[in-house]
Order: sequence, then structure tokens, then C-alpha cells
Amino acid sequence: TRPLPIVAIDGPAASGKGTLARRVADALGFALLDTGALYRAVALSMIRSGADLDDPAAAAAAARALTADDIARLTADPALRQDDTAAGASRVSAVTGVRLALLEFQRAFAACPPGGAAGAVLDGRDIGTVICPDAPVKLFVTASVEVRARRRFDELRGRGETPSFPDVLADMQARDARDSNRAIAPLVPARDAVVLDNSDKDVRQSFEEAMQVIRARLPA
Ligand code: CDP
Ligand code: CDP
Repeated sequence: TRPLPIVAIDGPAASGKGTLARRVADALGFALLDTGALYRAVALSMIRSGADLDDPAAAAAAARALTADDIARLTADPALRQDDTAAGASRVSAVTGVRLALLEFQRAFAACPPGGAAGAVLDGRDIGTVICPDAPVKLFVTASVEVRARRRFDELRGRGETPSFPDVLADMQARDARDSNRAIAPLVPARDAVVLDNSDKDVRQSFEEAMQVIRARLPA
């Protein structure tokens, strides 16, 4: 059997994986799943219900309780992008029961992309390693921590916030360490992933480079 037309895009925070995934999905006419939004949705539902984000059993229960409709509603909520939701997502994403509860949803999306799309693009931390280990295309997008902190800093300023660069850099380093060192589904490139460092590339150059890899690897 031929591999399903899946593009797996993983990488650390502010590496540009979301921006790249959106462009690739548009170019190929594939459905897009931002898997970080699922972990954010779990955190947001817990914040809304007043649950304890540091209680693993409560986090797993919240993840299991999410219906497809809940996911659609929560991922469209503007509060999904807030920093407390991101921090909560980073905490609940280390819980095994949360990851297991979200596994099925992600695999179903990849196997049967909504809207009759011909394929799927998934972006996250463990798509190539855990969610879609048989994906024919795996990209690991990265950039130096200083460059990623600068991007996040610019993003916050663009939203009218006044962060200090050293704080943003320290946050980025802390999140990298948490995502890379956790016991379950740590952030590492799959063995067969192509690593794309875009520290010195703009969005367009990153896209062109990714599309070359994708055209070479995706079954026609
Ligand atoms: O865009 P940003 O990197 O700030 O965050 P995100 O991609 O929305 O992910 C939020 C959190 O969910 C991250 O800190 C990751 O720890 C976690 N996550 C994960 O564990 N596995 C994924 N496949 C996607 C996100
Ligand atoms: O999804 P992730 O957190 O990995 O990053 P993003 O939200 O897609 O991108 C973070 C910022 O990096 C955005 O402002 C992009 O315009 C910018 N950027 C990029 O995505 N790719 C480059 N090669 C250079 C900058």
C-alpha cells in the first residue's frame, strides 16, 4: 500500500513551523492541523472550568472529555493565543493521558482529511516521531534560540506589549528545555526527517526550500 499523503512538520517554538505549514497546505490543497492548538484547547477548557492545571489526572480527564465540537469551538476562541493558555498547554502536554487522548483525533485527521482534501499537513512537536511515523515527508524546522526569541519579541511588540528581550529569551530557553527533555514525546527530529534551519532565511525562502523536499518525497 502507498503511504498516505501526509506532510509532518515539527520544530521548537517560533521556528516558523505554523507559518510554513499554512503555506504548504495552501500550495498542495491539503487540510491543515495545528496540533499545538489541541494542547492549548485542553488547557483552555481547564482554565474555564477552574480545574488544577498541575493535576495530571484532571488534565487527562479534561482531554478525554473533549468532543470534536469542543475542539472546534475552543480552537476558534481568541483566548487560545494568550500566554497563560500557552503556559498551560506546555504543562498539560507532558501528561501521558493527555497525549493518548489526543492521539486518535490527530491520526483520524491525517488518515481521512476533512473536506475531502487529497492529503494533510500536521505541525507540532511529535508528528514525525509519534503521530504519523509513516509520513512520506517529515520536516524538522528550526532556528537559533536567539533568532526565535527575536521573532517572539517582535510578535509581542506588534500586539502592543512591551516585553524585555532577556525575559523573552529566557522563556524561550525554558520552553525548549521542557519540550526537549520531557520523558514522553520529547522534541527531537525523526531519524528520517529533513532538518531545515531558517535562522538566515525569510518566510518565502523557507517555503521554497521546503517545497523542494516535499516535491521530491511526496508520492505523485
Ligand atoms: O506556537 P508555540 O510554539 O508557542 O506553541 P504551540 O505550537 O501552540 O504549542 C503549545 C504547547 O503544546 C508547546 O509548548 C508544546 O509543549 C505542546 N505541544 C506538544 O507537546 N506536542 C505537539 N504536537 C504540539 C504542541
Ligand atoms: O508556529 P511557530 O511557533 O513555530 O512559528 P510561527 O508562528 O509560524 O512563526 C513565528 C514568526 O517567524 C512569524 O512572525 C513568521 O513570520 C516568522 N518567520 C518565519 O515563519 N519563517 C522564517 N523563515 C522567518 C521568519
